[in-house]
Amino acid sequence: MQIDVFTLFPHWFDWFRTQRHVTNALANGHGLDAIDPRATTPLKAGKVDDVPFGGGAGMVLRVDVVEAALRARYGADPVELRETRRVIALTPGGRLLDDALADTLAAEEDITLLCGRYEGFDQRVIDHFCTEELSIGRYVLAGGELAAMVVADTVLRKLPGSLGHADSAAEESFSPALEGGPEYPHYTRPADWRGWTVPDVLLSGHHEQIRQWRLEQSRRRAGGPLP
Ligand code: ADE
Repeated sequence: MQIDVFTLFPHWFDWFRTQRHVTNALANGHGLDAIDPRATTPLKAGKVDDVPFGGGAGMVLRVDVVEAALRARYGADPVELRETRRVIALTPGGRLLDDALADTLAAEEDITLLCGRYEGFDQRVIDHFCTEELSIGRYVLAGGELAAMVVADTVLRKLPGSLGHADSAAEESFSPALEGGPEYPHYTRPADWRGWTVPDVLLSGHHEQIRQWRLEQSRRRAGGPLP
């Protein structure tokens, strides 16, 4: 798949691209590009934002600037673009990201993520160019970049070959394999540390019993937060 991120801070993604599951995904033919709307702005001196009509604090990303950036990238009217791909604005009030949505996004060929800054986007960007708004939580970040990385992180790690072990993403928190519940606890060596022992079943070698125990643990955790 190809993930395009429109951001005023494209270099932030240089670090992200060096993370193992991301390098694996890129080596497997997937793409992650960070595109700077400042590079294609029709305004003087690299201007991309403006004061809000009606007054108020902060700056708003302009609709003409976002249109120019999308047109330059895709060679099409962004109003039509959203018929053929998911164009997602990252906003604090958008649909909350969860594992099921990450699965859906991971099944797409291409997605576009738009990062707002300051006071966010001119509403016409969202109304006319985007298919949806996505939030990573009900708190306000200084911009959409970290949110875009969260989305890209959880989506890319789901692609076959991104993680070291093929099953790592199949049976993990919130996956259908665990009925949407949180993951069971993990233990590794030493089996006894200061008298803190590992549940016997995990040392038993009985795969079916281990599977049952893990599912039970996941169900228990789903019942509410641990004390
Ligand atoms: N931009 C600012 N805050 C955000 C959030 N919580 N989720 C997604 N995008 C954002």
